[in-house]
Amino acid sequence: MKKICIVGTGYVGLVTAAGLADFGNSVIAVDINESKIEILENGGIPIYEPGLIEVVERNVKAGRLSFTTDIDTAIRKSNVVFSAVGTPPGEGGEADLRAVWAVATSFAKNLDSYKVFINKSTVPVGTGQKTQELIKEKSGGKDCFDVVSNPEFLREGTAVSDFLNPDRVVIGSKSEKAQAIMKNVYHALIVRGVPYIGTNIKSAELIKYASNAFLAVKITFINEMANLCDIVGGDVNEVAKAMGLDGRISPKFLHAGPGFGGSCFPKDTMALVEIFKENGLHSRVVEAAIEANELQKQHVVTKLKSVLPDLKGKTIAILGLAFKPNTDDTRFSPTKVVIPLLEAEGAHVQVFDPIASDDFRQDFPDLDYKEDVYKAIEGADALILMTEWNEFRSLDLERVKSLLKSPIFIDTRNIYDPRDMKEKGFTFVCSGRTKCYL
Ligand SMILES: NC(=O)c1ccc[n+]([C@@H]2O[C@H](COP(=O)([O-])OP(=O)(O)OC[C@H]3O[C@@H](n4cnc5c(N)ncnc54)[C@H](O)[C@@H]3O)[C@@H](O)[C@H]2O)c1
Repeated sequence: MKKICIVGTGYVGLVTAAGLADFGNSVIAVDINESKIEILENGGIPIYEPGLIEVVERNVKAGRLSFTTDIDTAIRKSNVVFSAVGTPPGEGGEADLRAVWAVATSFAKNLDSYKVFINKSTVPVGTGQKTQELIKEKSGGKDCFDVVSNPEFLREGTAVSDFLNPDRVVIGSKSEKAQAIMKNVYHALIVRGVPYIGTNIKSAELIKYASNAFLAVKITFINEMANLCDIVGGDVNEVAKAMGLDGRISPKFLHAGPGFGGSCFPKDTMALVEIFKENGLHSRVVEAAIEANELQKQHVVTKLKSVLPDLKGKTIAILGLAFKPNTDDTRFSPTKVVIPLLEAEGAHVQVFDPIASDDFRQDFPDLDYKEDVYKAIEGADALILMTEWNEFRSLDLERVKSLLKSPIFIDTRNIYDPRDMKEKGFTFVCSGRTKCYL
């Protein structure tokens, strides 16, 4: 049985720790954030991720999963060390790798026997090589270690099932010994036939950025098609459905909306642009997707103003703060762009999210947070639905209409049917389906 240490207990680290323990490995999860570890030690979960608490509880009870802030002891007790710390955007858009270097330094200082260092975080191409050099230097020249790149593809909101049922496991390392160890770590998946892509470190690092940037471009493309549909009178849902039936295209990531957000696509596209530049190239496709995505977020306000031109003194209800449903993560949420624009036009904003308000408060402490969806709508001149939480899919529309001062409904996620909404008396604007039916 491998003894595994996972450094970082965020969305990726905690799910990886619980998942690898579920595969039968012995796992110690480490974080510098004492309050996170305290919550975990007391049987709680510091993030909102459906299904995670059950896997954590099961493995803690079985004695395969434990938590600590003591990174030195955790590394010394382990022969496989995953770094799953954050790699947020730096000032120029490049990935900030300070947390990765901190973990690599701790690894080097506790290198008392052969160990594998695994970069699970999304890191620019070349990071594996630099990690190798740093560990060698900080360990006083030891070479009883290997560095591996093992990018993660889980999605927040479905992270547990994504981790337990991935489309592929990517392992980058030139060391046969390290590849064999990684196959052993992921044995439970490999025996089930999950494709194992054993490659070199640089290819593995690039696979992650290429995958995320490609999906970001795909979303941006359908958003632009939606904008065109709104002008010419097409239905973007029909366009996307027919496109997706083409096996070369696939129906996934073809849902028009207010622009992509979250902890991955925005920062990973920015980082990839910087990687291209550092190598004397330009990714015009990815640069264009970033720019178009910024405009898409702003376009939400343009849609509102198409039916409510003067926002001064108006109250706008925002439903949804998380960048997508089933997560409390609000990093780069499109709502963070929309709200300041509304306020700059003199509007008062009242908001509701079933889970993500606390996270949003860190950046927007003074907003008018309401405790339920109907309180957020009450007295508003218009409502904007920003996140497709399940509870927003079945709103009591008669009640919504009676609570609004004027029945203006902006549905950025295409949850409601424009024909029904028109029949119910709403002034309704959605994404790429508005002109077609109204
Ligand atoms: N969130 C996702 O959906 C997702 C999916 C795939 C890949 N990734 C990548 O995985 C990495 C982690 O993402 P995340 O969303 O889990 O981040 P996160 O911010 O939720 O978690 C990072 C954790 O690392 C801890 N940490 C930071 N520095 C540390 C240190 N020196 N020692 C110990 N702990 C430390 C933090 O306290 C935090 O708990 C990123 O590179 C991200 O791009 C994220």
